[in-house]
Amino acid sequence: MSIVAANPPFVVTTEREARLRVLEWQAERQTVALVPTMGNLHAGHISLVEKVQQLADRVVCSIFVNPTQFGPGEDFEAYPRTLPEDERKLAGLGIDLVFAPTVKEIYPFGDERPVTVTVPGLTEDLCGASRPGHFTGVATVVCRLLNIIRPDFAVFGEKDYQQLLVLSRMVEDLRLPVEVIRAPIVRDADGLALSSRNRYLTAEQRLVAPTLNRTLWTLVEAIQAGRTDYAALEAEGWSALEAAGFRPDYLEIRTAADIKRPVVALPPEQLIVLAAAWLGETRLLDNVQVAD
Ligand code: PAJ
Repeated sequence: MSIVAANPPFVVTTEREARLRVLEWQAERQTVALVPTMGNLHAGHISLVEKVQQLADRVVCSIFVNPTQFGPGEDFEAYPRTLPEDERKLAGLGIDLVFAPTVKEIYPFGDERPVTVTVPGLTEDLCGASRPGHFTGVATVVCRLLNIIRPDFAVFGEKDYQQLLVLSRMVEDLRLPVEVIRAPIVRDADGLALSSRNRYLTAEQRLVAPTLNRTLWTLVEAIQAGRTDYAALEAEGWSALEAAGFRPDYLEIRTAADIKRPVVALPPEQLIVLAAAWLGETRLLDNVQVAD
């Protein structure tokens, strides 16, 4: 008589199922990487998966639209939820497990007043200024995901540069036993950074959208050419964005290491240019490191 083991489920929704699976791997001394996402996967997310597949024996992707990182009036309800399609994509990549929990599973005591993780110093300005509480929501959910999966590696994209620094600081300061891996921005051929929110753009706005990246590059090239009048450069970029039809939220030249305002002229390779700008109802985000 042959005993045929059933295939373990590819998608699990509970902490218990996820932990049991990871424990089996860890008992065999296999390493595990976590790719946290909110789903609606595109080539940017896929690049994160492929990056950690090179590093770890097992890869887990979490898909969770986290309510605590959305502010009132933001797109939590409207955020695209495409789980069956996401699962197909991930199965095609040969990853080991998808963790797609409910809100109740992640916030058993409710998501109104959860225990939170706040990361001072890196969250007050840029995206933090226009989205109060956003980064506390991000750090809070990622901390939970890390504690549930307990991976050796967790990967985050440079697309959300401030988020990457916030989460790296959380891991370092709280000594969470995980190595943070950073992945470069994946773009469309015309330079627009891939984002789940790009689908909100009209055809006309989609044609304008790459101007955000081009404007960042204009500033980067000016810095590379030796300009150090950062405030004037920011003002020029701001005007270029407005002329193209954007409502800029911020456009800033900062230090790449800790997104601080450079108070003196710095070597170009220490700088990064970051922007967020509205195109109609869509807020686009991008950055270019001057060293790129
Ligand atoms: P989400 O927007 O789904 O992004 C998941 C991961 O994919 C993040 O690390 C993000 O930086 C990365 N990513 C998105 N677009 C990318 C692109 N074009 N190139 C490279 N990487 C890209 O970011 C979140 O979800 C959430 O805040 C999360 C960390 C999951 C916490 O809820």
